[in-house]
Amino acid sequence: MKKLKIKIAPSLLSADFRYLAHEIKRTEAAGADMLHVDVMDGNFVNNITLGPFIVRAIRKAATIPIVAHLMIKNPEKHVEEFAKAGSDMIIFHIEAIKNPKNLIYRIKRLNKKVGVSIKPKTKVSSIKSLLPLVDEVLVMTVEPGFGGQKFMRGPAFKIPKIRKHYSGDVGVDGGINYENARLCVSLGANVFIAGTYLFGSADMKKSIRELKSM
Ligand code: DX5
Ligand code: ZN
Repeated sequence: MKKLKIKIAPSLLSADFRYLAHEIKRTEAAGADMLHVDVMDGNFVNNITLGPFIVRAIRKAATIPIVAHLMIKNPEKHVEEFAKAGSDMIIFHIEAIKNPKNLIYRIKRLNKKVGVSIKPKTKVSSIKSLLPLVDEVLVMTVEPGFGGQKFMRGPAFKIPKIRKHYSGDVGVDGGINYENARLCVSLGANVFIAGTYLFGSADMKKSIRELKSM
């Protein structure tokens, strides 16, 4: 299989929201490929972050694509708002929806890219039938809900199972740093979401360059 381009998406959850526009510019200047926006509803995960209103503001400040990672119950109720607010890709959780194919078609009809995410304990078999339909599979390597958690190695070994049936983007989200990103590249991942590692870096540009050269 041809080697896929490595893409880096800083997770804004780790940004300093007092200076959000500045933080967005900082990620763009550092070479980020897209912005990862973590949406949490306090139901699907035990944390509440932001909604379409903030995505609209991010859209005004950003020039790179916005990926909305919906860690919410009933994502089908909200995809239109996140699309209209300026998301370029919408990623929902397979654990949050009964009819994923319907939701995928709806997101595509909104002319947005669509991804599906699986929590650490969720099996690859749960999304196998969706692989021909999605632009990205997002493998969680932490229990969703918070930034700054420790990378879980176990879920990373789902990547080769996905790769057996899928040649699109495989992203990894949660506790990513250079060392564990290298493991995930060797397993077949090509999109890396990082919050703490990048926003905590003394030189974000250098950190992104190193990740891209893996
Ligand atoms: C967790 C989010 C992740 C998280 C990544 O629920 O989906 O995107 O913000 O942050 P770090 O890289 O600090 O784990
Ligand atoms: Zn995320």
